[in-house]
Amino acid sequence: MSRLNTNQLSLAYGSRQIVQELNLSVPDGLITALVGANGSGKSTILKSMARILAPTQGGVYLDGKLIHRQPTKEVAKHLAILPQNPSSPEGLTVRELVSFGRYPHQKGFGNLSGEDNRMIDWALQATGMTEFGTRSVDHLSGGQRQRAWIAMALAQGTEVLLLDEPTTFLDMAHQMEVMTLLEKLNKEQKRTIIMVVHDLNHAARYAQHLVALKAGTVLYEGHPEVVMTSQMLRDVFNIDADIIPDPRTGAPLCLPYGLAGEHSEPTTPTPVTGESSPAEYREERVQAMA
Ligand SMILES: Nc1ncnc2c1ncn2[C@@H]1O[C@H](COP(=O)(O)OP(=O)(O)O)[C@@H](O)[C@H]1O
Ligand SMILES: [Mg+2]
Repeated sequence: MSRLNTNQLSLAYGSRQIVQELNLSVPDGLITALVGANGSGKSTILKSMARILAPTQGGVYLDGKLIHRQPTKEVAKHLAILPQNPSSPEGLTVRELVSFGRYPHQKGFGNLSGEDNRMIDWALQATGMTEFGTRSVDHLSGGQRQRAWIAMALAQGTEVLLLDEPTTFLDMAHQMEVMTLLEKLNKEQKRTIIMVVHDLNHAARYAQHLVALKAGTVLYEGHPEVVMTSQMLRDVFNIDADIIPDPRTGAPLCLPYGLAGEHSEPTTPTPVTGESSPAEYREERVQAMA
């Protein structure tokens, strides 16, 4: 089942066509990862799904209704987006930013209800941002700022979450934290998540549906175990890679070796004694690989 889908969706910036006649169904209650090279149209598609970019043809449907024909506030009750490069007014505090997520639910003149405050507290806590509530957003580190924006999207309390590169700027621990949080929201609350990610191993581990794009067209789509193949890596990213099962989770793990057609065959690593000089060590390795 799919509450959110595109039908013959075409998108352009001015006269520049980016996406043509895209038919994409986002599976309900799953995590979908959108992958593809830079410039392949991932953000453009996400923006149109969030009603930010209007189609030149076709449309995006939520529960069978064209989202571009519905008021922003109505759509925002069901669907939240974390844009790729969000920006906020100068001097805004983290809590103020997160409270913007409650806008679609507010009646009257923007007074926060008890429920609004509960959701804001929860979103701050879920993203580990509680202690930063009174800090100015523009004084945060890149990673903290990213988490503040994720908190805003969470505070919106929507069934569908669109996240454009949610782990960019985050160190490994915070990347894991965000991914684990998304996994939890998906498992426990059945939220539908569509995320753009560059780390294919994250995509394969956390998503149950993978969509691989090239030049605005879907080349591969399906469960990561089916879609994540050396062939896909070659076709979509122009990369030569091996795919092995993750020893702990069994998810497909991608080991990239080089650009397609330019790498040497994988070699068996030789043990290192630790006693060679760098030059000797290099010579040993070269001989071992010959
Ligand atoms: N606001 C814009 N105006 C004009 N062209 C844009 C704009 N945003 C993106 N593009 C172009 O559209 C194409 C797709 O971009 P984008 O969707 O951001 O790719 P991705 O997110 O996959 O990296 C790129 O060629 C990019 O240069
Ligand atoms: Mg992008």
